[in-house]
Amino acid sequence: MIGIFDSGLGGLTVLKEIKKQLPDESYIYLGDTLHVPYGNRSDEAVYDLTRKACDFLFKRGCRLIILACNTATAKALRRLQQEYLPTISTVENNLNILGVIRPVAEFMAQKSSGRIGVIGTRGTVNSGAYVVELNNQKESPHYKVSPLNAGQAFKIEVFQQETPLLVPLIEEGWADSAEMDSILDKYLQALKEKAIDTLILGCTHYPLLIDKFRLKMSAKCFVPNPGEIVADSLKAYLVRHPEYSSSESESKVEYFVTDLSENFQTLAEQFLKEKIKINKIEI
Ligand code: DGL
Repeated sequence: MIGIFDSGLGGLTVLKEIKKQLPDESYIYLGDTLHVPYGNRSDEAVYDLTRKACDFLFKRGCRLIILACNTATAKALRRLQQEYLPTISTVENNLNILGVIRPVAEFMAQKSSGRIGVIGTRGTVNSGAYVVELNNQKESPHYKVSPLNAGQAFKIEVFQQETPLLVPLIEEGWADSAEMDSILDKYLQALKEKAIDTLILGCTHYPLLIDKFRLKMSAKCFVPNPGEIVADSLKAYLVRHPEYSSSESESKVEYFVTDLSENFQTLAEQFLKEKIKINKIEI
C-alpha cells in the first residue's frame, strides 16, 4: 500500500497521475484539510503535522509514503528521513518516505536551456529547496547527457516567485474566476520579464490551473505537469524497489481527510471525475 500525503486537495493531482502510471497498486490518500494551507506555517509546525500524517499512514499499512505536498517536502522531508524514520523503520518492516522536489528538479534541469522559473507557496520558495536541488544537478549524469546540455558548462539560473494566494482560492473553488486570472497575471509578470524557458509548478495545487499557466506564459516556456513527473519517477523507483509494491490482490484507493467539508467532497469528485467515499479522521 502506498500513502500519498498532501495538506489538502492538491495532492489529488499527484494521485491521479500515479494511478494512471501504476493502476495495479493500492493507495491511501490523506489530506490534512483541517490545517491547510501549510504554505505560511513554520518549519516546526509543518514537521509536526507531516510526522503525524506519516504515523497515520504507516499505521494503516502503508510502507512507502509520497509527500505529494511541496511545502512538506521542502520543510519536513529531510528531518523525517533523518530523525523519524530510524525510530519506526526496521529491517523487517522497511518503511520509507519520498518527496516530490528532487524528481521534478532532476527532470526540469534536463529540459531547460538554463532559465528556470519556480512558483510555490511562501514556505517552499523561502526554503530554497528547488534552488538547491536544481543546483545539485550539476553533478547529475542525466543533466550532462541531456541533448540541451551535452558538453556545456552548468548554466542553470533559477528565478523564484512566491504565489501564496493561489491555494486558498483553489480550495475555495475559485480556480476559474476572473480574480484568479488577474492574480496570476501579477504573479507571472516578473518571471516573464526574466524570459524563463521552463516553469516549475512547485505546489500540488497548481496543476489544477495548468491550462491558465500555459496560456499566460509564452509558447516557448515549457510548463509540464509535476504529477506526471512524480508518477514516472515512482514507477522507476518501484522497478528498483519491488518490495514497496502493493501486496493486495485487488487495487483500491482509500481517502482520508482531517476535516470534511461539502466543498472538499465536491471539488475532489469534480477533479477525479468519480464518486468517492472520504473518511474524516483525527491525526
Ligand atoms: N500542497 C501544498 C504544496 O504542494 C500547498 C498548499 C498549502 O499551502 O498547504 O506546497
